[in-house]
Amino acid sequence: MKYSFKSSIDKDIKSRIVLIDTGKELFDTSKKIASEYGVKLNTSDIPGTQLFRSTDKENDFLHLIDIKDLNSKKDFVSAFLNAIKSVRDFLSESLIIDARIDGSDSIIQAIVEAMELSNYHLYQYKSDQDKKFKSLDLSVQCIVEEGMQAEGDETAHKHAAIVKYQMKCMDLVNGPSNKIDPDHFASWLKDESKDLSIKTTILRKKEIVAKKLHGLLSVNKGSGKEPAFLILEYYGDPDDGKTLGLVGKGVTFDTGGVSIKPDKNMHYMKSDMGGAAAVLNATLAIAALGWKINIVAITPITENCVDGESIRPGDVIDSYSGKTIEVIHTDAEGRLILADALSYMAKNFEVDHIIDLATLTGSAVMTFGYAAAASFSNDDDLMDRISSAGLACSEKTWSLPLWETYGDQMKSDIADIKNMATLPMAGAITAAKFLEFFIEEHPSWAHLDIAGTSFGETHYSKDKAATGYGVQLLCYLAEELSGS
Ligand code: BES
Ligand code: ZN
Ligand code: ZN
Repeated sequence: MKYSFKSSIDKDIKSRIVLIDTGKELFDTSKKIASEYGVKLNTSDIPGTQLFRSTDKENDFLHLIDIKDLNSKKDFVSAFLNAIKSVRDFLSESLIIDARIDGSDSIIQAIVEAMELSNYHLYQYKSDQDKKFKSLDLSVQCIVEEGMQAEGDETAHKHAAIVKYQMKCMDLVNGPSNKIDPDHFASWLKDESKDLSIKTTILRKKEIVAKKLHGLLSVNKGSGKEPAFLILEYYGDPDDGKTLGLVGKGVTFDTGGVSIKPDKNMHYMKSDMGGAAAVLNATLAIAALGWKINIVAITPITENCVDGESIRPGDVIDSYSGKTIEVIHTDAEGRLILADALSYMAKNFEVDHIIDLATLTGSAVMTFGYAAAASFSNDDDLMDRISSAGLACSEKTWSLPLWETYGDQMKSDIADIKNMATLPMAGAITAAKFLEFFIEEHPSWAHLDIAGTSFGETHYSKDKAATGYGVQLLCYLAEELSGS
């Protein structure tokens, strides 16, 4: 897709989406506008929109979107996605999007995001995928106020890159666990990082054993597939820039282990690597954009399976930090691999902040549904920055406390900590307290439980599917921290 920004309309292009702000007068006004454009009323069944089509020429249409009730970027993206869906079959070569009524940066982001996401589909594994989907490759002319053109170009370039990596994240999360396994993650990362100035370290079983990453090894015991411990380092401002440490949970399939999950929705557990996918893709996007910031990303990758070798409830395991863990429940496996990754980050890299993203608990889903990630931090300033980045890109977070009373629930009689609370309450918080035990007292750490936001309702699927949550959030945050 190509984007250009103009302040006047090219009359030769007959495919037009126009933003208007009319409220109740939509019908009257839109009829008037349509007659000015010389097209007749044809069809419209989406509230707040009007689609006019000329009867003879196919790609001759005028699609009006009323922005009166649109507030967040997400609202705008949905409105554009709906508009593109209804005119998709009539589109060829060029499209005008007249955004003069509100040519703000956020609208331009929404336009680019919707145009790119409109090409996203799930047909990759169908044998006739080519017949199923015709990708759009349009020249999109955005009409903005005089003087906004240069800013538009920059925003479009930046945002198209971010959304490209968001879609790569979605591919990983949507992919089945027999294809997207630790081997795949390792070769995918090698491939993706080869043309970027980024250092990639891929540790497999032998090195993971040598490094004593026992949390990851314990979860991996029941799996026939070797684990991977992936480290990405990007130094966009090595001299005096901030360094962001990112950690992501990468469980390519979570059966629950011996504490096995019920069968009903177990197939969704192919998505239990949404944190790793988000962290890796955000880092790649930032490296591709060459932003002035430093990032270290670490993602432990494994399956959590049932086998004669699997860890059992009640087992006591070691961890990279040296602390011992009583495994009360083998389905609380994410925190075991994150414990290793967090202390590895804190001990081996000098980072200003550590942020981990993980599809960690059902409790976060029960609390916030699909609407927000549960966020936790020991640094109020970092928490504020995450929260504003989330609002700006419509990947919301909402904070929960890390009070010590929740930590008391994680005390073990026979080990340094246990992996599940005594009482079946406040599961997202007690999980966060467990992670906090492994950050080696780093003063600026945040944890985002993305179990509800990473995989849910989407514009492109009937069943639950990947949202790509986290890629934009981390990019917006990094841009803010870097001043890029
Ligand atoms: N991967 C799950 C969490 C999850 C649940 C993600 C629903 C997405 C949707 C995690 O490993 C898990 O099973 N957590 C347990 C922890 C419990 C045993 C302490 C949970 O939340 O039930
Ligand atoms: Zn689990
Ligand atoms: Zn899990």
